[in-house]
Amino acid sequence: MDKSLKGKTAIVTGASSGIGRATAEGLAEAGAAVVLHARRKERLEALAAEITARGGKALAVAGDAKKPEQIDLLLDSALRWKEGGSKVDIVIANAGRGLAGGVLTSDESSWRELFELNVLGAAHLLRVAAQYMVARKSGDIVILGSVVGRNVSPFSGFYGSSKFAIGAIAEGLRREVCAHGVRVSLIMPGIVESEFQEVAGYTEENFGKSVARFGKVLEPRNIAAGILWLLSMPAHVSVNEITIRPTGQDYP
Ligand SMILES: NC(=O)c1ccc[n+]([C@@H]2O[C@H](COP(=O)([O-])OP(=O)(O)OC[C@H]3O[C@@H](n4cnc5c(N)ncnc54)[C@H](OP(=O)(O)O)[C@@H]3O)[C@@H](O)[C@H]2O)c1
Repeated sequence: MDKSLKGKTAIVTGASSGIGRATAEGLAEAGAAVVLHARRKERLEALAAEITARGGKALAVAGDAKKPEQIDLLLDSALRWKEGGSKVDIVIANAGRGLAGGVLTSDESSWRELFELNVLGAAHLLRVAAQYMVARKSGDIVILGSVVGRNVSPFSGFYGSSKFAIGAIAEGLRREVCAHGVRVSLIMPGIVESEFQEVAGYTEENFGKSVARFGKVLEPRNIAAGILWLLSMPAHVSVNEITIRPTGQDYP
């Protein structure tokens, strides 16, 4: 088995479900010690127990990725975790949520929370992770954007705007830190089947029927595979962006 990440320690936010969970499992399989973050503590603890039973190292830290002080606590917990080497090499900024509908039809009462999580919380994590990594002169930061953060769509204009924002922040950060040996990568997935659709409020009517023509959509592990691939590159190779879509997805 490929243990190319042995000796590395990775923080994964949104590790209780979907892409974050699959990425945490993939990182642990590749030998990394993983620090799992999300609100649902029981899920994180169950995943940590599974990883440990398979011979890996995992620490569950429950918290809200919207709250800067809880993100600070996440980094502190990772740095205090002796089994993980009291260091952080990789940060996967993945926690996020969607929102069904465009500017006219999405639920406005969710707009603020969406930005607090997808943009402000994520940006705070990027800031504290990058400050730490710049001082160490190495590290990997991987950010989950979206194809709707690159292509404006009438059916997810508001959610998409949060992914445009974090995509811009990712590239700005890359330019700030690349000279310090820190790599920043933006992943832009197309449709991935996960809890995302239910949380966003997608239904058969407003979503299922329109994506049926794409054929088989992505599984979270397909995105995890892309992330593991870019992390396996030699230190002088920085994969700045990856778009991964279901083969049949033409747009967005
Ligand atoms: N699925 C797609 O089609 C798709 C496409 C493009 C981009 N993305 C992006 O990929 C990322 C992961 O999505 P996914 O498909 O894996 O969705 P998911 O299955 O719903 O997972 C979302 C994760 O984020 C965590 N989370 C949500 N709110 C949180 C909060 N306030 N504090 C801490 N953790 C929170 C959830 O954990 P708790 O509920 O336990 O807190 C969960 O672990 C998101 O950034 C999403 O925007 C998804």
